[in-house]
Amino acid sequence: MNNESNAALKVVSPGRVNLLGEHVDYNDGLVLPAAINRYVTLNAQLTNDNLVTVHALDLGSTCRFSLAHLENKKDIDGAALPDWAEYPAGVAWVFQNHGFEIRGLDVKVTSTVPIGAGLSSSAAVEVGFAVLWQAAAGWQLDRLTLAQLCQEAENRYVGVNCGLMDQFACANGVKDHAVLLDTRSLESKVVPLPAQTAIVIADSGVRRSLVDSSYNERRADCEAAVRLLKNAYPNIKALRDITPNQLENEKGILPNVVFKRARHVVTEIARVKDALVCLNEGDAEGFGKLMVETHRSLRDDYQVSIPELDVLVESALELPGCLGARLTGAGFGGCTVNLVREEGAASFISNLKKAYHRKTGETARVYLCHASQGAHVK
Ligand code: GLA
Repeated sequence: MNNESNAALKVVSPGRVNLLGEHVDYNDGLVLPAAINRYVTLNAQLTNDNLVTVHALDLGSTCRFSLAHLENKKDIDGAALPDWAEYPAGVAWVFQNHGFEIRGLDVKVTSTVPIGAGLSSSAAVEVGFAVLWQAAAGWQLDRLTLAQLCQEAENRYVGVNCGLMDQFACANGVKDHAVLLDTRSLESKVVPLPAQTAIVIADSGVRRSLVDSSYNERRADCEAAVRLLKNAYPNIKALRDITPNQLENEKGILPNVVFKRARHVVTEIARVKDALVCLNEGDAEGFGKLMVETHRSLRDDYQVSIPELDVLVESALELPGCLGARLTGAGFGGCTVNLVREEGAASFISNLKKAYHRKTGETARVYLCHASQGAHVK
């Protein structure tokens, strides 16, 4: 598209909120995220060398690395890349490995997606850089493959064994809609959000800690469950292949923790299927109830909630007009997502802030959020 030297390019790449289907995208399950109107913005100048300079303006930090020997994870002075620079470097590394031309750039990055809040700031950065390099070199790539390569960057370069949901949502978001992704067949479908409802995000202000190792541990527990369940069901490939009843029947063959992790996953996949029925029937209340069940399952069985998120959820559920509330994303900190009646959204927001402050002494950022378009050149 644009091969002129020193040409300027601007890309905006959204974060995402997951409505339902948490911790199932690495179990071949169904997820229902939406891209949101919080963005990573990349203002880039193409260069004629093989250097990438990234100015993380919000962090007050700059990193310059060469496109040769990305595997070393070093900047041009030989120092280890700062954590945040591993995302663009990882994207460059993966796309290069797959034979795509990656050009030198000087990029200013700013973001309104809070970091470590469960709204996929990292996927927004990855997908944003992929779209930027795609536009810079002019190669063609469908959005599913683009998302998969960004996921590969996070798995193999950054070292987080994440599923495909975040990168997919950031790349494929559609205004005013959620996107249903079947992480087994990779089929996806755009789904309208329930009528006359609003999505409210409440940020506990607690940032994730140990998330990466805890995340990888949860994934390992799921894999252990599949290995053990194969004794009873030799043909299963993932927890997707087990129903909640089948799991209950095999309770005895799983260690308690592994059983609880698996129970979250199999019931969560069932909840997404039920939620699609609710959406079809315009049953916003039914959808909200499933969100609440998800939160309890994430809290008690998957054990990825924290007291602050539980306070936000329980406080939200006491307020008028709240249809559902739950933690969103990987957990261990970050945000809740709330489905509320549109007409009461403003008072819901102010009451939830007050309740959180009263109960914890802390301040939550609570705001309306709109489903938005995936990453694109501006
Ligand atoms: C993180 C991962 C996703 C997904 C969620 C939990 O956001 O990046 O792939 O597993 O956690 O649903």
